[in-house]
Amino acid sequence: MSSTTAKRRKIIITQALPYANASLHLGHILEAVQADIWSRFQNNSGNECLFFCADDTHGTPVMLKAKEMGITPEKLIKDIQKDHEETYKLYDINFANYHSTHSEENKKYSELIYSRVKDNGFITRNTINQLFDETESMFLSDRFIKGTCPKCGAEDQYGDNCSVCGATYDVSEIKDPISVISNTKPINKESEHLFFNLPKKITALKEFLLNGDLQKPITNKLNEWLNDDLQQWDISRDAPYFGFEIPGEDKKYFYVWLDAPIGYIASIANWASKNNLDMSELWSEKSNYEIYHFIGKDIAYFHGLFWPALLSAADFKLPNGIYVHGFLTINGEKMSKSKGTGIMAKEFAEICDPETLRYYFAAKLNDKVEDIDLNFEDYVQRINSDLVGKYLNIASRCSSFIAKNDNKLSEAYDQNLIQQISSKHDEILKHFETRNFSKAVRLIMDLADITNKYINDNTPWKKDKDEAAYIATTALNAFNILTIYLSPIIPKITDEAFKFLNQTNQSFDDIEKRLENNINKYKPLLKRLDPIIIPEEKNMTEENNYINIDQFAEIDLRVAKIINASHVEGADKLLQLKLDVGDLGERNVFAGIKASYNPDELINKMVILVSNLAPRQMKFGLSEGMVLASSDDKGIYLISPDSGAVPGLRVK
Ligand code: 2FM
Ligand code: ZN
Repeated sequence: MSSTTAKRRKIIITQALPYANASLHLGHILEAVQADIWSRFQNNSGNECLFFCADDTHGTPVMLKAKEMGITPEKLIKDIQKDHEETYKLYDINFANYHSTHSEENKKYSELIYSRVKDNGFITRNTINQLFDETESMFLSDRFIKGTCPKCGAEDQYGDNCSVCGATYDVSEIKDPISVISNTKPINKESEHLFFNLPKKITALKEFLLNGDLQKPITNKLNEWLNDDLQQWDISRDAPYFGFEIPGEDKKYFYVWLDAPIGYIASIANWASKNNLDMSELWSEKSNYEIYHFIGKDIAYFHGLFWPALLSAADFKLPNGIYVHGFLTINGEKMSKSKGTGIMAKEFAEICDPETLRYYFAAKLNDKVEDIDLNFEDYVQRINSDLVGKYLNIASRCSSFIAKNDNKLSEAYDQNLIQQISSKHDEILKHFETRNFSKAVRLIMDLADITNKYINDNTPWKKDKDEAAYIATTALNAFNILTIYLSPIIPKITDEAFKFLNQTNQSFDDIEKRLENNINKYKPLLKRLDPIIIPEEKNMTEENNYINIDQFAEIDLRVAKIINASHVEGADKLLQLKLDVGDLGERNVFAGIKASYNPDELINKMVILVSNLAPRQMKFGLSEGMVLASSDDKGIYLISPDSGAVPGLRVK
């Protein structure tokens, strides 16, 4: 199907909104990369695809975290949103808009949807009995209660499930409940709650499951839940709660899961108003956009039942489909900080070029709900073999023959090879469209193999200048097509490759276009990866944030003198420091202080070094320790000893 003849589709996609109480981990990036590749593919092949996201800001965890940090929830969610947006940018996630659920638009749409749902007769009231923490004056949700498992008697289990025997139960059944927040015994207290009458939407939901674009196992699971005992959904929470107050009620708030998906609409509305567009063209009954949600399997219930039922009850357009992926495991295990596999996305971007992770995820992603494993050995091997050894190798091998030909391509080329490479166009498009990226990657790498074999068989290094240019021109035309195929997956590398080929704005429509005239000098676009070592994190005492004196004594803090400082090519935040640490010798440290310091002003400055931090391999080199600094919105402030301190002195 050629996109010039096909109807231009209008598509809106979303990914799950990350919670605004922590930084992003690699699981978040898996989902973002999946959605971003699909969106770039749609845009590259003649459709319009807009990708929306926002931070999910409301609820008790955000409220408690802000309290623990001694800041307002507003400040917390602002800082976290900044961190999230920076992180997604590192991975080149191309959002049309990134917004917040704590926004005017979300308040407006939450109230609108609620009032319509209410007017349409879907809201009921019921008094429920809940555990209440008297010292904190708040009702406790299941995750803030611990106690003894009613089935096996294991102590210290969460309010709704037992990690020892695996039982799930109602929080009213747990024995000797304790509030996790204040460590006191909660009491039972009554409160009136508002409920959304989910069972009343069963027909609309059945129709949604029948017609929506959903994966088979998801449809089956949702049908199972639907035919089970469908319950009314509690959409209200009592104060104190960080969220939106429910209009017409006294100190009642919308439950975070009510306003979170409405955040999709809010992000679109915010973008529409910034661009002077009519929101009703984007998401309303008359919208001609297809709408798809990319989510993880853990939130299929919310997106497959509550959300479409709510939209339907409020006379809004339902999504056209929901695309569900599995969890990310690392080296075969669930992510865990203490095993060094709970790695955060920002840290990982310092160790490996984010494009390589995009490629690795693409090489593993399909349309199934299966978990995806990130195995570091396999990762390094695959990047080095596929991207460096197969794909980019074509450009680096051929560029010298063109250079010898005054950088000029030959006019003729071998049509046979090009035909083989371009004829896979439809098949590759189909794999992208169906989210079978792993199949697309396999096919593209097969084509890279064929191209490398063509070079080997034709031995341009044994040929005269003209013949060598003919062979290289053929292979570079193949490389150009492979670059178009790979562009949704590794946009930065392919942009650079297009520059090398003197091409701009290549899309899937340009597969039949051949290279002309000159090309540029080839500069390596990716270095081979070294083995990945993730520093293991020491387990903090989980109950509180204290460390004991022995743990403190393990940190070897030293006075150090900066003897050289320089910018680091390609790093926005880092400066490279050479430190004199007295009897410990010299150290090389990459410090994230560029925003506030010029290298020149740092020479001879005394600082404090964490000297026994495990050396960390970064993209730019090995960092041997960390210098201490504090920071706020205005800047970064290095910590220095008083005058008289000499390099190497221990700080105790
Ligand atoms: O599970 C989560 O991380 C939620 N913050 C996802 C919300 S998606 C949407 F409904 F907002
Ligand atoms: Zn148990």
